[in-house]
Amino acid sequence: MSNPTSNPDSTPASNLGSTPTIESILHEDRLFQPPAELAAQAKFKSFSDYEAIYAKAKADPAAFWGELAQQELHWFEPWKQVLDWRPPFAKWFEGGKINISYNCLDRHLTTWRKNKAALIWEGEPGDSRTLTYAQLHREVCQMANVLKELGVQKGDRVGIYMPMIPEAAIAMLACARIGAPHSVVFGGFSAEALRDRLVDAQAKLVITADGGFRKDKVVALKEQVDNALANNAAPSVQNVLVVQRTKEPIIMETGRDHWWHELQTNASADCPAEPMNSEDMLFILYTSGSTGKPKGVVHTTAGYNLYTHVTTQWTFDLQDTDIYWCTADVGWITGHSYIVYGPLSNGATTVMYEGVPRPSNPGCFWDVIEKYGVTIFYTAPTAIRTFIKMGDQHPKARNLSSLRILGTVGEPINPEAWMWYHTVIGKERCPIVDTWWQTETGGFMITPLPGATPTKPGSATRPFPGILAEVVDLDGNPVADNEGGYLVITHPWPSMLRTVYGDDDRFRRTYWEHIAPKDGQYLYFAGDGARRDEDGYFWIMGRVDDVISVSGHRLGTMEIESALVSHPAVAEAAVVGRPDEVKGEDVVAFITLEGTYRGSDTLKSELKQHVVAEIGAIARPSDIRFADALPKTRSGKIMRRLLRTLASGQEVSGDTSTLEDRSVLDALREDA
Ligand code: PRX
Repeated sequence: MSNPTSNPDSTPASNLGSTPTIESILHEDRLFQPPAELAAQAKFKSFSDYEAIYAKAKADPAAFWGELAQQELHWFEPWKQVLDWRPPFAKWFEGGKINISYNCLDRHLTTWRKNKAALIWEGEPGDSRTLTYAQLHREVCQMANVLKELGVQKGDRVGIYMPMIPEAAIAMLACARIGAPHSVVFGGFSAEALRDRLVDAQAKLVITADGGFRKDKVVALKEQVDNALANNAAPSVQNVLVVQRTKEPIIMETGRDHWWHELQTNASADCPAEPMNSEDMLFILYTSGSTGKPKGVVHTTAGYNLYTHVTTQWTFDLQDTDIYWCTADVGWITGHSYIVYGPLSNGATTVMYEGVPRPSNPGCFWDVIEKYGVTIFYTAPTAIRTFIKMGDQHPKARNLSSLRILGTVGEPINPEAWMWYHTVIGKERCPIVDTWWQTETGGFMITPLPGATPTKPGSATRPFPGILAEVVDLDGNPVADNEGGYLVITHPWPSMLRTVYGDDDRFRRTYWEHIAPKDGQYLYFAGDGARRDEDGYFWIMGRVDDVISVSGHRLGTMEIESALVSHPAVAEAAVVGRPDEVKGEDVVAFITLEGTYRGSDTLKSELKQHVVAEIGAIARPSDIRFADALPKTRSGKIMRRLLRTLASGQEVSGDTSTLEDRSVLDALREDA
């Protein structure tokens, strides 16, 4: 761990290019006020409204969250204590009994929302489906009963490896209903990556589909599951439940594999939600860190339910008439919190779309907005940059007048992309909520409230009420305004991760020990560098660890290095992020070869394919460079800063005096 401002070796690659550089954001002084008409109808109508609620929450966080928990959620039994904080382990709402599936479904059935659209789904080849709250409830209950029949009990983990179809949300809610923690694995991950996650979570059952449609291709999901389970490699898995989506031929293993639709036909729709303890595990979601193996981030029931509920409601100023669309995949935390749980807990209409923007369908997102009259649209900077490239004619040819609020997440948004989003999509009348948060935080941490917070392009603005954020140095001391440092959270919040699955030590080491506790107070280290300006606005500068962000997907460089080194030709590998105009960063690998192997284009392709097989297409290196040696310090540490500079085609400047062998540098440059 090194200081983001003083040690050049730790300069996050994401700060070099299309993402905001400290120079660009220091000079960003445009300020956009919330539109008056929107503010007039919003829950928080002015900056002083925000400041008042923020001050109230800060003065007594337990009272603040306790009051909201009482007001906003259904409880089978009330809690006894709002927060039990034994750093770094937090328990929220201990003693309470609650079920998030009940809060997302059952409680709406006794209101007019019973027949409101809960889920609007737009399928990739043009099919679509709308499920009302009553219909969604019915299907969730049926699947919950199917899971029980297949032997899944409270506490058993269930793997979900699905395309973006309603059954993905139904599967999650069915698991939550019976208290079986789910572990959703993004459908773009390979069989190897899936297997690792199923093994780590000791999943008892996997829910998948015969396949999915992605970027004009069919993805053979079931085949990947078969590969993951081959040779009894994930012995905890007893059954596989398969949704029929593509109708492509697949192999169904007798006794193990079952068709979703066949079991659903005979399943009862009566399945009362299981009263869960507040701190019972709701789900595990794997994410990349600085070390090789992905971490199973653990979220529990009550705090996560409350926090995603309140943040959805306030950050999107949710109204009952809204048609809300988040373009993420349910395989990521954004899909969990802001396609499924947050919106449904609020009784909102949430749109789910199977497609992704691609050259063959450059207007696809705008078509969905126009078709359903989407009012709140939440996407990622990488998507926005893709659209900029595709041309303004596509959004301009559609009627986007239903939109009232825009959101962004996943990586720093460069001011140019922010301005395009604001003018071309929002027609200068939709506030942009730039939400900073993480898999680990469960919900939005730093974000504007659309009717209240003036926005600055590229800044996630101010912390959500109840969130205490700081920018500090390694000793935990706050740094001065406008000085870069580490972003930390100084007080626990309801949806914080509780641990790393099966590894409390790793949880402690990764998040709580990098920054020295301050006056006995533990600081949550987010892994991001940030700066706070004189208005108290936060500017996220990107990761300060070895995590890179490719199209908003979080990847550990060591994870990709381990994949490369597992190929027989590779002796040593160093992976860095290279700034990319659209994707934010792309993956560049520097490789030394074993013995008699020689670098060639064929070997490059083979190694790229090897990474795809080991992790998934999102980790495929764009560039592979062979070298006789990697640049190392005299103490043997790979000099990543040099590699990042070389990868981005820049001249190496600055101090290279610690470089062990200068000829290495010349050789690497030549290969480029
Ligand atoms: O570096 C930050 C970046 O994404 C990381 C979290 O990644 P993940 O757990 O995959 O969750 C992504 C979706 C919540 C953060 O550490 N990040 C996320 N949102 C923003 C961001 N960087 C800048 N601005 C954001 N709004």
